[in-house]
Amino acid sequence: MARSIAIASGKGGVGKTTIVANLGIALSMLNSKVLLVDADVAMANLSLIFNLHNPPITLHEVLMGEANIEDAIYAGPQNVEVVPSGLSLESYRRTDPERLKQVLGALEERYDYILIDVPAGIERTTLASLSAAKQTLLVTTPDPPSVADALKTKMVAQRLMSKPFGFIVNMVYGEKGELRKDRISEMLELPCYGIIPFDKEVRKTFISRGTLPIILRKPNSPAAKAVKVIAQKLGGKEAEIKEPKQSFFSKLFGIFKRK
Ligand SMILES: Nc1ncnc2c1ncn2[C@@H]1O[C@H](COP(=O)(O)OP(=O)(O)OP(=O)(O)O)[C@@H](O)[C@H]1O
Ligand SMILES: [Mg+2]
Repeated sequence: MARSIAIASGKGGVGKTTIVANLGIALSMLNSKVLLVDADVAMANLSLIFNLHNPPITLHEVLMGEANIEDAIYAGPQNVEVVPSGLSLESYRRTDPERLKQVLGALEERYDYILIDVPAGIERTTLASLSAAKQTLLVTTPDPPSVADALKTKMVAQRLMSKPFGFIVNMVYGEKGELRKDRISEMLELPCYGIIPFDKEVRKTFISRGTLPIILRKPNSPAAKAVKVIAQKLGGKEAEIKEPKQSFFSKLFGIFKRK
């Protein structure tokens, strides 16, 4: 029976899609059978990471009731399987997001993990994507507004019976003023599953077509290693979460700012 996990945030642009792709590959490297679902039906991005351009059948057709989910599953790298969303606004308008839960429920026996890329915010598509997963893993940056919005998402997920069980901090620079993981843990009342540093190499996957996700391209980079730690922790293994020390220059800058 698959563990279905909604990868969700309050704010947009904090790295959900990037994490779904890289974490999915990391879990697959640990021999899990993984399905990644782009439930961001309005602003689909996951297909771009996997170089799936204009796939003939997508989650749009499935949620319109015009296709079977089996026909919307594509092979990704490292044995990961992917359900992309469509790019057309016209077909998006005709989707019924409420179908997602039932559609994914039918696949549960076949996978160890189903990771769902949830749209940011609390619109109808977000609520339907959260409801489709049994659990929610929150993504936030180390900034107070991002954590505050993640808290709202946590509360919404709880109401929808998608149990929030942890959070990931992404795009950590190690600068003064960033919230530390223990503080975020207090605010969200959840354990930390990983800290992913800001690394401009991560962005290259979106910038140039055909560029592999960081976990395959630079498996020994700090960002890739951080994702592997999350995968291990999801599997119940103890793994050390490295939190960058606040750099000398940022501390120095902080001293000047206080004056
Ligand atoms: N750790 C990181 N270091 C540097 N850049 C990152 C990191 N994580 C994500 N990014 C970049 O930040 C941008 C936003 O990431 P992504 O699209 O994964 O976020 P998202 O939460 O899915 O956004 P949206 O809410 O719009 O769906 C992308 O250009 C991505 O490459
Ligand atoms: Mg996204």
